Amino acid sequence: MTASESAERFRLTDQYQALKADVHRHLIALIEARNIDIDTWTADRVNRFVAEQVRQFVLEKKLPVNQREIEALVRDAHNELMGYGPIQQLVDDDTVDDIVVNGPYNVFVERGGRLFEAPVRFIDEQHVIRVIQRILAPLGRRVDESTPMVDARLPDGSRVNAIIRPISLEGPCLSIRKFKKHPLLEDDLLRLGTATKEEIAYLRERVEKRTNIIIVGGTGTGKTTFLNLLSQWIPQGERIITIEDAAELRLRHRHVVRLETRPPNLEGQRAVTARDLVRNALRMRPDRIILGEVRGDEVLDMLQAMNTGHDGSMTTLHANNPYDAVHRLELLAGFAGYTGSEQTLLGQIVSALQLMVHLARLPDGRRCVLSIAEIRGIKGHELDLREVFRFEADSGRHLDLRAAA
Ligand SMILES: Nc1ncnc2c1ncn2[C@@H]1O[C@H](COP(=O)(O)OP(=O)(O)OP(=O)(O)O)[C@@H](O)[C@H]1O
Ligand SMILES: [Mg+2]
Repeated sequence: MTASESAERFRLTDQYQALKADVHRHLIALIEARNIDIDTWTADRVNRFVAEQVRQFVLEKKLPVNQREIEALVRDAHNELMGYGPIQQLVDDDTVDDIVVNGPYNVFVERGGRLFEAPVRFIDEQHVIRVIQRILAPLGRRVDESTPMVDARLPDGSRVNAIIRPISLEGPCLSIRKFKKHPLLEDDLLRLGTATKEEIAYLRERVEKRTNIIIVGGTGTGKTTFLNLLSQWIPQGERIITIEDAAELRLRHRHVVRLETRPPNLEGQRAVTARDLVRNALRMRPDRIILGEVRGDEVLDMLQAMNTGHDGSMTTLHANNPYDAVHRLELLAGFAGYTGSEQTLLGQIVSALQLMVHLARLPDGRRCVLSIAEIRGIKGHELDLREVFRFEADSGRHLDLRAAA
């Protein structure tokens, strides 16, 4: 074991956690006693202060810690005072895409599509909550018993979700999806084995020809990333309106209006829903509407928009396969107060949507286009799909089915 590995291991022990908590309490007492306004200090000054105090503390208490362990203590104490505590190092690490905290002792990160346990932990549940509040405070939000669930976007575009007891039985949970400095585009998806050149070329042509497209897949399968990619191919000069709960899409078009929904305020009022925004978007003379995700009663307005001249609109839907996707749309339409017959609704769905892209996460963590299918109409009570491309799991090949048709 190298010295740094053993220091990493030491940081997970109860002994270290107790020591860290002691150091933190000591620093807080000192700051209060000296009336220091730490927020006005530069990071450098805080760092020097913390380093000095930690060394002194260790000396005075004659603690058996080595140089590397002192360095770990200094870094953790600094993060505790200034940043996001134990997860600050994960936030700073550019190779980490997602951070998930399930209660104080289980922290995981996603790197390159795979989940790993992270070598960090919190002292206790209160500690997790303090960090959550610190993340949310600059956004004017907080979690507490009356708002035990918060979904928010950080100034850098990262997405944060926090949920605490009594709703979360694991104790406070925090999920951070970091905003990628460079979103994954065509070359990345080719390199990562998500799609083939042929698939990309085909989709690009369909986007240019104003096909209505829906991207379906489970959580974190790369739907939003894919929607962002497709959107890049919309010809410049078209007027695009995007509607999202948290603005994730990054378009480089000139004629783009980005709209974001707003959650209700503390009194449960003044929400602006995706449905409000789809309706409003229709009055803004869009060429295309891009809805980040259909998940509620905006479904009817979106279908209507797609059926009435906003060709080339696109959206994503959380569903495990194409048939499931249609059932979800029907279900959402039902919740939204649709009262017509099932057959009419299905008719509306299939005339609105022309192409379905199905994404999945393979067991090795890779995201993959499982199929690209044209929606041709209705067969009986089901969708009539014609697959244009299909991923064959056994051979690991993406089949081009165009010649077969
Ligand atoms: N093709 C890909 N290959 C590898 N990683 C990817 C790919 N597409 C997306 N990712 C990564 O996976 C994570 C989730 O991506 P994304 O937000 O696009 O998924 P999603 O399906 O929209 O998720 P959600 O269900 O939460 O809306 C991000 O960290 C993203 O960078
Ligand atoms: Mg998404």
